[in-house]
This record gives sequence, C-alpha cells and structure tokens, in this order.
Amino acid sequence: MLGGSLTGPVDSAARPMIPTRIVAYCRAGFEPEAAADLGRAATIAGTELAIDAPTGRGYVVATPAVFDSQRWPRALVEAPPVFVRSLFFGTGQHMLFDAARTRGRPDRVAPLIELVDLFRRDCAIPGLPHSSRGRARFAVLRLETPDTNDGKAVSGLCRSIEAPFAQALRERGALADSSADDKRSDEPALHVLFADGATVYAGASLPPWGSHWAMGIPRIRMPREAPSRSTLKLAEAIVTFLGDREGELLHAGMRAVDLGAAPGGWTWQLAYRGLMVVAVDNGPLKGEVADDAHVTHIRVDGLTYLPRKPVDWMICDIVEQPSRIAALVGRWIAEGHARRCIFNLKLPMKKRYDEVLRCQSLIVGALARTRGKFDLQLRQLYHDREEVTGFVERIG
Ligand SMILES: C[S@@+](CC[C@H](N)C(=O)[O-])C[C@H]1O[C@@H](n2cnc3c(N)ncnc32)[C@H](O)[C@@H]1O
Repeated sequence: MLGGSLTGPVDSAARPMIPTRIVAYCRAGFEPEAAADLGRAATIAGTELAIDAPTGRGYVVATPAVFDSQRWPRALVEAPPVFVRSLFFGTGQHMLFDAARTRGRPDRVAPLIELVDLFRRDCAIPGLPHSSRGRARFAVLRLETPDTNDGKAVSGLCRSIEAPFAQALRERGALADSSADDKRSDEPALHVLFADGATVYAGASLPPWGSHWAMGIPRIRMPREAPSRSTLKLAEAIVTFLGDREGELLHAGMRAVDLGAAPGGWTWQLAYRGLMVVAVDNGPLKGEVADDAHVTHIRVDGLTYLPRKPVDWMICDIVEQPSRIAALVGRWIAEGHARRCIFNLKLPMKKRYDEVLRCQSLIVGALARTRGKFDLQLRQLYHDREEVTGFVERIG
C-alpha cells in the first residue's frame, strides 16, 4: 500500500506527472540555511518554493510551484548550495504501511518496489531525457536516514532490507549490477530516505548537484598519528573540493603555509602527503608533527604573516571574525602569495546565511580587482560545526 499523494488507483491513460519534491540533507539545526540555499536556486530556476524545514530534523523538503527538470540542475550549478550536503529530486512523503495497525515485521520491500516503479514512470528526473520515462535505470541504491539520533535508530533497519531490495530492483532492470563494468556515469543514484521505520521519500540524483556519498557524508578514517580531530575537516575538504584532482593539486614537494596551525591536525594532513609546511601559531604543535622534518613552526601573527616567496597552498583555521578571514584569503590569492587556499569560517550565532554571503562577496570582490580567473566554493562539511569551509584557486 502506498500512502501520501500516490494512494488510489492510477489511470494509465491519463496518468498525471507526480509533483516533484526536492529533498535536501543538512546538519541538524541548519535547516533555515539549507532552505535559503534552495531558495537561491529556485530564483535562478524561475519558480517559487514551498519549503518544509522544521529545525533539528536534518533535512528539508521543498515543493517548487513549477518544476522544470532542465533548469533546476543548471540553477544548482550556478548557485551551489553551501549548507545542503546532498539532495535528490523525487516523490513526496509515503507511508509504506499503517504503523498504528501493523504488528510484527511488516514487508517493506514490496511497497518500496511499487513506489520506485511509480517514481520511474511518473516523475520527471532532472538530467534524464523524457524518453527514458519508465525505463530509467539507477547506478546505485542509497538507503539513507537523517543525520540525527532518530535517524540512527532506523539505520539498522535500512541495512537489513538493503540486499533483498537491491536484488528485487535488479530483477526488474531498475538497478545496475554492483560490478563497476555495469555502471554508467550518466545513470542517476536512487535515494530512499527513511524518515522513520514506515515513512519514506524516494528520488534520484546525478553529480554534480547530487553528492557522491550517501547523505553527502564521506567516510573518513581518523588517523591515529594526527594530533587533533580537526584533521578530519581538512581531510574532508580535500576529498570534497579536489576529488579526482587531489594527486595533481596536492603532492610531495609542494610548499604550504598553515595559519592557526596548533596543535597540528591540518599541518599533519599536508606533511603526511609530503608537502613542506610552515605552521604559523603562537601555540605548540603536538605529537609527531612537532618533530616532522616537513614542518617549520613559527610563532608569529597569522593575520599579518606573508611568505617571502609564493607558495602552492595557504590553509587557515584561525578562530576569528569570518569577514577578517575572508579578507585575508582574498588578499593571499589576489596578491599571488598562494595559488590555492582552504579555509574555515566560524559562523556567528545569528544571520549565519547573510554572513556567508558577505564573506563570499568580500573574496569575490578582492579577486575581481585582479582580472584573473578564480574558482570559489563554500560548503558546510560533515565535520564542520558552527562553521563552513571554503576553497579558492587561481585558474591558469
Ligand atoms: C581551531 S585551532 C586550529 C586547529 C588546527 N587546524 C588543527 O587541526 O589542529 C585555531 C588556532 O588558531 C590560533 N590562532 C588564533 N589567532 C591567531 C593568529 N592571529 N595568528 C596565528 N594563530 C592564531 C590559535 O592559537 C589556535 O591554535
């Protein structure tokens, strides 16, 4: 049985398209900012949005007044979300069974298959031609939960149904085989979000606007040798912003400056990859990074320090007003002190979105004066708390 907007008989001759919903994951507590991200994209896509974004839920659901499956992906590339970790386009909310009346272990796979069939047949999947309606095949299946305590409570259930659900999808040609040979890069990922044990949303995503990782959360191992958990922030920034280009852009022999380096978690990531790092901080470095031959520790003010010769990378995790860090980053890149930069902006308690936009325009303004070409990206990473991480590079 399907609930929500899909209940009842379906007239196959005059079958209406299901209104498309956008389901977007974010850090719990940042739903207003994730909603603002979607609002910016909606303006570019030329539509209004109704947004359901209760604080603390870990995801928001948006319903565009008009849905154009060509314009939305372009809008998300033009105004990339900062606080949305991952999103998919899909159906509204569906009850797999009536939780109040059902006892024992209800079958979830059969109603999920029914929902996916309906979604393939009656939903516009952005990035796919209309001719693929009803025949869309998915490259991967992602059974997802919100990144909250309630979400963790249903993750065991997701694991238990994943294999039989995937098998049933493969049997009807809806899911590629798990071997790499069988997957195509133009095939979308199939998402099923379990809001709770009986309530789901289903939909599809494609890179670059859909994340490579379930719920937009990359799995990153905490290196035992690193002196702080903050090391995970830089590790995540590297996989997020550099992706396949990591080997080309960040490698042994390059030179870097780490502003606000102590106790050394970010410096460790670079020294581990063989970069020569000047670690700037009045505080002490800890652990093996303090004696690493790749690392030179200097105790000076990171807000005024500049290297004698340009470096490949500047990274900055100084706890300071975000606009000061944005101005610092703009100066380092615009004046050519570094080619690329990864930096963290600590957000204020209020007007967080406005502050991010202000920092973005400060950096863009500084770079625009140089007439060079630049790429700037800002994201709230999984390992970020009340903060966002940025990446900027001079192109050419
Ligand atoms: C969040 S911690 C950095 C953590 C580091 N990224 C890691 O992974 O271990 C911020 C650091 O910035 C340093 N700091 C604050 N103001 C600074 C300044 N003006 N110049 C240099 N360092 C500063 C602090 O001493 C502190 O060690």
